Amino acid sequence: MSELNGQVAVVTGAARGIGEAISRRLAAMGATVVLASRDLTQLDRVKLAIQSKGGVAETAHLDLLDERSVQHLAASIKERHHRCDILVNNAGIGLSARPLHETSPAEWDMIMATNLRGPYLMVRALAPMMIAAGSGHIVNISSLAGHNPLPNGAAYAASKWGLNGLTYSLAEELRPHNIRVSVIAPGSVNTGFSVSSGKDPGRKIQPDDVAHVVAMLVTQAPQSFVSEVLLRPTQKP
Ligand SMILES: NC(=O)c1ccc[n+]([C@@H]2O[C@H](COP(=O)([O-])OP(=O)(O)OC[C@H]3O[C@@H](n4cnc5c(N)ncnc54)[C@H](OP(=O)(O)O)[C@@H]3O)[C@@H](O)[C@H]2O)c1
Repeated sequence: MSELNGQVAVVTGAARGIGEAISRRLAAMGATVVLASRDLTQLDRVKLAIQSKGGVAETAHLDLLDERSVQHLAASIKERHHRCDILVNNAGIGLSARPLHETSPAEWDMIMATNLRGPYLMVRALAPMMIAAGSGHIVNISSLAGHNPLPNGAAYAASKWGLNGLTYSLAEELRPHNIRVSVIAPGSVNTGFSVSSGKDPGRKIQPDDVAHVVAMLVTQAPQSFVSEVLLRPTQKP
């Protein structure tokens, strides 16, 4: 596949899990993938795996909690590539399962800063390059917890409900610039993100299933776009 030849894709949280699968898929489709997160050792592993299959990837340190880190990443992409065609805001955290009244303000802030402020900072830093080019695709990875109640995960759910609202509004802002903004809301995915005891990992959504949806979104015919995908396992795990 080479539908994305010449395109630059930035994937946050590319070090493992869903972000790794998305990065591998976009590279296999011909994109140059900028793998971004804090763990450079893991990013190097993903880069080597992509290169071993003939893909092109580079690593970039990114800490979404640090605005300067986001700005630095955007500046280096602009200097090296002069373009950003695809941005996948995938990085996210869940933290411990506990009722909201037992959740510390520090934990609340960390979840919001990573899951909601992080995508905002990334859009703020990279959308101008897309606007200048008159094209682009932004894909935000939300969760079914952004549509449903999540007892003992209210802060996480709030961050993902917020990310959905951000996405719908941003999509309207950027439509006139020919930039398509989508959100994917998966159910439980088989990664190290959360331990859901009693669930059959083989029946969970697999990281590659999410990557497949990203591949569909970014290859949608140009005159339309899929604004939201709710992704569920075929059989309940
Ligand atoms: N797994 C699920 O069941 C599930 C279901 C629905 C939605 N999701 C969503 O899917 C996304 C990916 O989840 P996953 O299961 O792949 O999780 P994961 O395996 O824990 O990976 C999370 C990624 O986010 C990165 N990250 C975390 N904090 C960061 C920060 N401050 N700055 C930069 N990168 C950061 C991590 O890299 P570093 O630690 O190296 O920075 C890691 O690469 C998340 O947004 C999650 O909410 C997951």
